[in-house]
Amino acid sequence: MSGSGSEGNWTYGDYLQLPALLELQGEDRGVSPDEMHFIIVHQTFELWFKQIIRELTEVRDILAQDHVPEEHIPRAVDHLCRTTEIFRLMANQWTVLETLTPQGFLAFRDGLGTASGFESYQMREFEMLLGLANEDRLYGMDPISTFRKLAENSERDAVILARLEDVASKPSLFDSILRWVSRTPIMGSTAGSDGDDSVVEAYVDAHLNSHNKLGKQAAARMSGYGASSPEKAADRFASSHQAAIDYLKPDGEVSRARAGLLFIESYRELPLLTWPRTLIDAIVELEEAMVKWRHAHARMVERIMGRRIGTGGTSGVDYLDATSQYRIFKDLWAVRTILVRPDSRPELENAEFYGYSSEN
Ligand code: HEM
Repeated sequence: MSGSGSEGNWTYGDYLQLPALLELQGEDRGVSPDEMHFIIVHQTFELWFKQIIRELTEVRDILAQDHVPEEHIPRAVDHLCRTTEIFRLMANQWTVLETLTPQGFLAFRDGLGTASGFESYQMREFEMLLGLANEDRLYGMDPISTFRKLAENSERDAVILARLEDVASKPSLFDSILRWVSRTPIMGSTAGSDGDDSVVEAYVDAHLNSHNKLGKQAAARMSGYGASSPEKAADRFASSHQAAIDYLKPDGEVSRARAGLLFIESYRELPLLTWPRTLIDAIVELEEAMVKWRHAHARMVERIMGRRIGTGGTSGVDYLDATSQYRIFKDLWAVRTILVRPDSRPELENAEFYGYSSEN
């Protein structure tokens, strides 16, 4: 076993600092086996949170570059995939806690006071790194303002505040990914080149036409099958088409980032788009794993303490269920709603630019 840069004459215990680590599970306070297990599960989660922050900081730094070298993308994907696996592992880790009976939990719960996972600053840090906006949080929560107050009286909270402020001052992963996809070459036209605006607009309009046509066909099919309310189905398709227009042309202007996302998802088989789509897939997969982890937390809590108010003062399970509705990478999810089937996509122009032609 060798350490970072050391000549490596370690013992196992020294390398991992086990004596210090193994003194932190509350035995000095005489905790019960149930409570020690409760502490250990929390601590392992917090250790994983620490690693998640490290992984996501790497991804943020790669993607926030003005020019992201192509060869950096596989590294970003590797960090994202590891983070996803950590969330999957953590989602399964709740089952260990579920061995705690409701009575077993009540036996030490009052001793927690107001301590709650709600105060996990590492969780807030990785949410901010990913790009969860305050206005999308329940209760309009602002993690920074909470720590600003705490930092007035505590050095330790001042350090936490400084970390959170540093993350907030830098672009989030969501900001960076949007900036990056906005530079996607569309129909062979590169962002900022002469005539790019009109190429992109023509592409978006062609896609929207196809989307509209398919929606109308589907509505007609439904009325043909004697749907109970054909008008309602037609209205629904019309409003979903309007939503597609609003997505691609917010305020009437084409969003190049969303057009880029649409292009990548629509023509994902093109060789030049392999890494972009792999990166986007990795982000969506990560957010899905995180949502499932939140959901599994709520189910564990419901099983152990029903619908009591949380020690952090929230409504408990209802609050946790509501947080599993959070979506950070909204544009990456929303584009899925407006895709059209492959044979209805606008015909690809400049196929050779993407390393692909029909003769291939
Ligand atoms: C018996 C075990 C547990 C129960 C009953 C429980 C319950 C709760 C409740 C009710 C909340 C909502 C906030 C509040 O009002 O307190 C919460 C939030 C939270 N819990 Fe747990 N929890 C448990 C275990 C864990 C563990 C092991 C972790 C791992 C670190 C954890 C992490 C969190 C986090 C990060 C939040 C904040 C979620 C957010 O605001 O998005 N919880 N928990």
